[in-house]
Amino acid sequence: MLKSIFRILVALTLLLLSQACKNNQESTSMISKKLFGKLTNGSKVNLFTLTNKSGTEATITEYGATLVSLFVADKNGKFEDVVLGYDSLDGYVKGASYFGAIVGRYGNRIGKGKFNLDGKEYQLTINDGENHLHGGALGFNKVLWKGEEIESSEGASVKFSYLSVDGEEGYPGTINITVIYTLTNNNELKIDYSATTDETTILNPTHHSYFNLTGNLENTILNHELKINAEYYTPVDSSLITTGELAKVENTPMDFSVTKKIGEKIDSDFEQLVYGKGYDHNWVLNNFDGNVNNVASLYEPTSGRLMEVLTDQPGIQFYSGNFLDGTTVGKNNIVYNHRVGLCLETQCFPDSPNKLNFPSVKLTKGDTYKQQTIYRFSIK
Ligand code: BGC
Repeated sequence: MLKSIFRILVALTLLLLSQACKNNQESTSMISKKLFGKLTNGSKVNLFTLTNKSGTEATITEYGATLVSLFVADKNGKFEDVVLGYDSLDGYVKGASYFGAIVGRYGNRIGKGKFNLDGKEYQLTINDGENHLHGGALGFNKVLWKGEEIESSEGASVKFSYLSVDGEEGYPGTINITVIYTLTNNNELKIDYSATTDETTILNPTHHSYFNLTGNLENTILNHELKINAEYYTPVDSSLITTGELAKVENTPMDFSVTKKIGEKIDSDFEQLVYGKGYDHNWVLNNFDGNVNNVASLYEPTSGRLMEVLTDQPGIQFYSGNFLDGTTVGKNNIVYNHRVGLCLETQCFPDSPNKLNFPSVKLTKGDTYKQQTIYRFSIK
């Protein structure tokens, strides 16, 4: 009799303990889901909000697997949105700036949209002058992904899946891709990509948030201080296609190997900056070894916000929002003026399928594409 009472007491204690652990986990990170809107074909589009124990909050929609907002504390503990975007689904459906989206299949440009793979020529959609940009007319940013909450020991996590069929935008092979966003309790937004194909193809997706660490999306990003761990970058021609050359950043305005204010040299008459109308280039990351390395940091002095970028990719495209021109109205009716946001897009080098000296973006049947990129926030 005593033995069974003891057993019941032990079982009850264990049950209470496991419940307490669960509650504790739930109070440190949270996910909520709501309807963002409907597409014209009637499909419902969801919005997931991930919150961590310090109150940092990331909201991501199934449309384009897009980061819609990211509330991060400043040095006084004030939470503000540090990414550009729109208030409604309609903005993302109509918008042309790739705010917060996953772009692909190929992040950045492929010259004339042509490439040769295993002896066969492919022609992709032309959607940027005479070139192919960010996956074409209906790239990963313009399609509906399927979002689902997943278990993660690191924080609140949502997995987005998309099946890109053979021939989409001209690319060979059907690709099954997933992108997992995790908001960790260390204030990191972690993005894990994984993809397989049923036929050899190319793949080079990236994340396209426009950051503004002031937290006021009316300010320019010119006072942000940037460091990129790179001694080389890949110069472009006047249509922004990489020339194939790796050029030294030393003694040029492209040198961010030591922290520099973005506005310091942005308007100089350096030919590359004239072509890009500012910074719009890929930096060749030092010590690329396929592991996740700390590759760049962005600091904004008035807010004290620091964002570090970690990735396992060989390159990073730094785009200083040069094509924002005050014609786009974003969240809270704010007009997005010239250079109010900047992108740090981790990826393989632009136009690499046509540049044999660049790292390869080939994805072979049977292999799995993997990428991990982390945007880590703190106060300095
Ligand atoms: C590219 C820019 C392009 C922009 C589109 C960036 O990733 O580097 O050239 O205009 O995306 O929003």
